[in-house]
Amino acid sequence: MALEMRLPVEEYLENFDFKSFLRSVKVRDERLILDQIRYFTVKEAVERDRIVESYFGSEKISEIVDILVNKFKFSPIKHGKIRTLDLGSGTGFFTVRVAEKLRKLAPDLEVYAMDATPSMLKVLVNKYKNVTPIIGVAEDVRGSLNFSSGFMDLPSEFEFIFSILTLHHCLNVANVFRSVNEVLGSNGLFVVADLCKHEFEEFKLEMGDVHLGFNPEEIREIAKETFSEVKIEIEPGIKCECSGRGAEIFFASMIK
Ligand SMILES: C[S@@+](CC[C@H](N)C(=O)[O-])C[C@H]1O[C@@H](n2cnc3c(N)ncnc32)[C@H](O)[C@@H]1O
Repeated sequence: MALEMRLPVEEYLENFDFKSFLRSVKVRDERLILDQIRYFTVKEAVERDRIVESYFGSEKISEIVDILVNKFKFSPIKHGKIRTLDLGSGTGFFTVRVAEKLRKLAPDLEVYAMDATPSMLKVLVNKYKNVTPIIGVAEDVRGSLNFSSGFMDLPSEFEFIFSILTLHHCLNVANVFRSVNEVLGSNGLFVVADLCKHEFEEFKLEMGDVHLGFNPEEIREIAKETFSEVKIEIEPGIKCECSGRGAEIFFASMIK
């Protein structure tokens, strides 16, 4: 179930005080965050689910969901009460599909969705009532939770955090990894699915991308500075396709 909020969720998303929020969290690139929010509000909030379908098609979407769920299944996380966070959840397209399958493995599941863009979360809450939306930034998850804890009771840590196609919108990967590590419980699992390095410079303008994907080895090196175990895989056949341009997807699993 979604957590009880101290004000209607619509009000939380509508009247969020970004000025105070950005003053209270650790972000070095405030302008970039505001640009991202603007981009996703104007260009994607209403269309996001259709965009994801067009990138992958339903078969590959199921494969991506299964990969994430299997990473949880075969991780050291002890099943019991599981708090999961989709970081950069957008409109919740993957949040809900992953949660549905996770619930079969871990019936005592709480699902949280954090995103910087309120209008993406508004689409999510209009579709799904059993996910708790949190406005927040990947670079300071702890600070984001603290800020929103005035509006609802939030956990201080999570057993499983995943993030899909969001890392390439964040300027500093190392900061995101450190921020996630701060809120992962012991033996907690963090899984990132994102684009491998590609050459489509125009994605920056067309899709608000900050990085043209990543070299998975570079991600491994950065992750090793923070996490005790790191595993990177590229799944053959899973590509993010857009108007004839395709980028492979890597899956990085990191244990606290
Ligand atoms: C490409 S969308 C991916 C959304 C979702 N995971 C999906 O696959 O549909 C990227 C999301 O990251 C969010 N975002 C961008 N920068 C962020 C940041 N620094 N912290 C948190 N969310 C961010 C955007 O608002 C957007 O919803």
